[in-house]
Parts: sequence; C-alpha cells; structure tokens
Amino acid sequence: MPSWKAALALALATAALPTESPFAEEPLPAWAYAVNPPGMKPSPDDGVVRRVPGSERGYTLTQIRDLYNVPDWHPGDHPSMPGSVVRGGAKGAFACGFCHLPNGQGRPENASLAGLPASYIIQQVADLKAGTRRSSEPKSLPANLMTAVANAATEAEVREAAVYFAGLRPRSWIRVVETPTVPQTKVAGWMLVAVEPAATEAIGMRIIEMPENLERTELRDSTSGFIAYVPPGSLHRGKELVTSGAGKTNACGVCHGQDLRGLGPIPALAGRSPSYIVRQLVDLQRGARAGAWSPLMKGVVAGLKDEDIVAIAAYTASLAP
Ligand code: HEC
Ligand code: HEC
Repeated sequence: MPSWKAALALALATAALPTESPFAEEPLPAWAYAVNPPGMKPSPDDGVVRRVPGSERGYTLTQIRDLYNVPDWHPGDHPSMPGSVVRGGAKGAFACGFCHLPNGQGRPENASLAGLPASYIIQQVADLKAGTRRSSEPKSLPANLMTAVANAATEAEVREAAVYFAGLRPRSWIRVVETPTVPQTKVAGWMLVAVEPAATEAIGMRIIEMPENLERTELRDSTSGFIAYVPPGSLHRGKELVTSGAGKTNACGVCHGQDLRGLGPIPALAGRSPSYIVRQLVDLQRGARAGAWSPLMKGVVAGLKDEDIVAIAAYTASLAP
C-alpha cells in the first residue's frame, strides 16, 4: 500500500479536534493575503472592445467581468468547458472558469486547479462548504466568494468541474527570480502590482508575485503568467526543507510525489503560485484550514517559521509543474 494511504488512514484514525493555534496572534504575511484598499472600484466600461495577443476574440470590460459567462480568449488551448465552469450553477454559483481561468492556471489571489486530482477538488469544496476550510484573512473577498460558490454549487456541478480541471495539463506559469530588491508594490484587484511611478525597495522576508503583463492579466488573458521575486538563498533553503525536512519538518515527496507533481489524491505543489502556497501553509498552521485531510499536514507545518514557509513556496513555485 503506498505510504500516503497508510499515512491518510493513520491520521484520520487519530485526528484530534482542532485546538487553539499558537500562531493565531501573529500578524499575517500581508503580501500573501493581498487585500484591496477600501473603496477601490474597477474602471467603468468605456465600451471599447479589448484584444490580447494570439486571440481572434474581442470583449468589452463588462463582458470580461461577467461571472456567469466567462471570457475565453484562447478556446483552442483547452477542451470545451462544462456548464458550471463557463456559465455557473443552477443555484447561482459563479462560473469556476472566471476566477480559475478556462485553462485552470489560476491567479495569485485564487489557486491553480489544472491537473489536481478530481477527488481532491471535490474534498476541498466539501471542506469549504462545511466551514472547516477558511482563510485566515476574513477580509479576502476572493476567498469569501469561493466559500459562497462552495455553498451554492450542487454536487453534480462540483463533480463535472472537478473532472474538467483534473483533465487539464498544468503549464509553466510563474517565473521565479531571486533578488535583494523588488519593485515597490500596492494592492489592486486583490493582487500586488507595481506603484507608479516605478520605485524599488528591499525584498525582506517576502515573496512579491506580480503579473508579467498587468494589462493582459487585468483582461483575464489565460496565457499571460506571473513573476515571483524571492529572497536570495531561498531556493536552496527551500530545496533542503522539501527534500529532507532539514530537521524541522517531514520530507514532502512521500505524500506529494517525489517530483511534487501530486500522488494519488494528494495535490501537486510544483509550479503553483507561491502566494497561494504560503496562504495554505499559514492557514493549516493556524487551523483556519482544518478539513478532513488536513491532519496529515499538521505535523508538517507545526515547526515552520516565516522564513521556512517563504523558502518552501519559492522552491516549489520554481519547479516545472
Ligand atoms: C469568485 C472567484 C472564484 C470562483 C468563481 C471559484 N473559485 Fe475556487 N477558489 C477561489 C479562491 C480565491 C481560492 C483560494 C482561496 C485561498 O486562497 O484560500 C479558491 C480555491 C479553490 C480550490 C482549492 C484548490 C486547492 O489546491 O486546494 C478548489 C478545489 C476550488 N477553488 C474549486 C472551485 C470550483 C470547482 C469552482 C466552481 C464550481 C470554483 N472554485 C469557483 C475563487 C473562486
Ligand atoms: C503525510 C503526508 C504529507 C506530507 C509528508 C506532506 N503533505 Fe502536504 N498535504 C497532504 C495532504 C493530505 C494535503 C491536503 C490537506 C487538506 O485537504 O487540507 C496536503 C496539502 C498541502 C498543501 C496545500 C495544497 C493545496 O493545493 O491547497 C501544501 C501547500 C502542502 N501540503 C505542502 C507540503 C509541504 C511543503 C510538505 C513538506 C515540507 C508537505 N506538504 C508534506 C499530505 C502531506
């Protein structure tokens, strides 16, 4: 029996009730939980039809922002989307493809779903619906909308979406760069973007994940990816932690697969948004994420410090998905 199965069975049999987390009082890494400043409004629709490179389609801003009819710039790069992914659910669930993109690549404020196991996707939506998986940042509108989707989507809608996303091939989407200095950023559209006029600052113990091309990301172009600036030395340190545990945690490969591309029902880590991965490690550590399978991660995250979490997410993001 593969070791993750043994581990899953053991953890579920011995799972304790969630206890008060020793991390609950510490400030959240604001750069990973980007929250829009109050009162921020999207620019009004000027009626102009927008275009992106490599697409014959054109959409107005209103069409691009339609949560029930997802803009699909590149219909040739994915199979045809089932109803719940492109138009949403019968009980009002937003279309999954709006946030997670038609090709499942996702954005820093949500998550990539391409290639995740269908059983894992179904379990996560169930945990969100049950309220056992939450964000540590109650002001995160994207996370709150995801919970609303989990509450409104029917089982059949979740299943068809899970099968669709599980069948997609994840692509390289994040370029990871070690650097001591980064563009100075602000939050807009629930993600980090460069300030204008441009300025630089020290990276500190942060990961600064930004669109490679802000205009294309704002138009929800599913082929324009992200750049993640990470602290010098974090890739080397992350590799140590992930492959051996470095005396602080367990090696990840036994459950997530040696190449970190997932194993059985356990999700991949390779090539995914480092902001997302940081949020999950923090949420697991604080007990905000305490779903049915989360006990398996309890010991893994218990001893991790902020700099370990940064190093792990930097390294996993740098791997080919
Ligand atoms: C309004 C935007 C939005 C829509 C629509 C949406 N999601 Fe999400 N989803 C999110 C966000 C945001 C997160 C990440 C929350 C966090 O960071 O903790 C997420 C996370 C997830 C995850 C967890 C991924 C993982 O690796 O654990 C799954 C699974 C998921 N969504 C499935 C779906 C499905 C299925 C649908 C459609 C039925 C859907 N989502 C629709 C915003 C959305
Ligand atoms: C004993 C098995 C096991 C080990 C070892 C393990 N994981 Fe996990 N991991 C899981 C399971 C199971 C989940 C799903 C948890 C849930 O559903 O809440 C998970 C989820 C995660 C997630 C959230 C992924 C997502 O898509 O939301 C991250 C990030 C993660 N693990 C990182 C790590 C890292 C980094 C290591 C090594 C330092 C590691 N894990 C070691 C079993 C394991």
